[in-house]
Amino acid sequence: MVLAGLTAMSLAACGSGGSGGSGGSGGSGGSGGGDPITMGFAQVGAESGWRTANTKSVQDAAKSAGITLKFSDAQQKQENQIKAIRSYIQQRVDVIAFSPVVESGWDTVLKEAKDANIPVILTDRAVDSPDASLYKTFLGSDFVEEGRKAGQWLVEEYKDATETVNIVELQGTTGSAPANDRKAGFQEIIQADPKFKIVASQTGDFTRAKGKEVMEAFLKAHPDIDVLYAHNDDMGLGAIEAIEGAGKVPGQDIKIITVDAVRDGMQALADGRINFIVECSPLLGPQLMDLAKKVVAGQQVPARVVTEETTFTQDQAKQVLSTRQY
Ligand code: AHR
Repeated sequence: MVLAGLTAMSLAACGSGGSGGSGGSGGSGGSGGGDPITMGFAQVGAESGWRTANTKSVQDAAKSAGITLKFSDAQQKQENQIKAIRSYIQQRVDVIAFSPVVESGWDTVLKEAKDANIPVILTDRAVDSPDASLYKTFLGSDFVEEGRKAGQWLVEEYKDATETVNIVELQGTTGSAPANDRKAGFQEIIQADPKFKIVASQTGDFTRAKGKEVMEAFLKAHPDIDVLYAHNDDMGLGAIEAIEGAGKVPGQDIKIITVDAVRDGMQALADGRINFIVECSPLLGPQLMDLAKKVVAGQQVPARVVTEETTFTQDQAKQVLSTRQY
């Protein structure tokens, strides 16, 4: 009770001044008259090319939409994201958006935001809370579908193979929605045929350095790898360095499937060093700002907004590379 009292006092002391705008009416009820909106955005980190493009998209879109953005980089640590969200609550921002580094463990802080009447938008990654009233909407990719697309390409590529296909998997950050879902979607497709065998699967934390390190270990332990499935381009690109270091030819001796389709990944695909990329678009900023305006104005928004995405073969990468935005 003492804590609740102190929190209430400090929130009252901050008032709407922290948001510099409509925050006085507390999120969903505010900003009806076109007052400036302040968004607190708790980013995961800067672990990948995808993340850099996502941050830029959010910052650019906020500027274009006239939304004041308070931005924090959690360096891939959940406790940093929780701290940032609490600070946004203290500052009485109008809306909080964040990309949860992992799926679990958000209920308490989301409840605090709800109690403070500040709406929350999940962007890019989901939480596993059963209480959907803790956030207004979730904007982002269908990661399970991305995993399925990776599996479908593999099944087609090896449709005539009669021998075992040895696969190694570089997973994203442990406990994150894209790691869990990309694994599940891929598994769902390949399990139909017992010739597909995942001989090793480990996290590379979505980074190039970790992708290289883990692939080096995979290559030492498994001399007969046919396929690498990496949950993002950066880990795949790190793994390519390891494969070349081991005297093998990426894209030929070992077929490589990745997810994202950032510029470096697309270049490697066009060069024949990656075989297939499933797109995951980081350009969520404009849709996020539209949703934020509606949510702050108290309008209804869909509970789930799924990002439109495609896939790329080597030939398709050559065609689109020059026009790629990120
Ligand atoms: O959540 C999206 C994932 O996070 C991207 O696929 C990956 O590159 C990033 O780090």
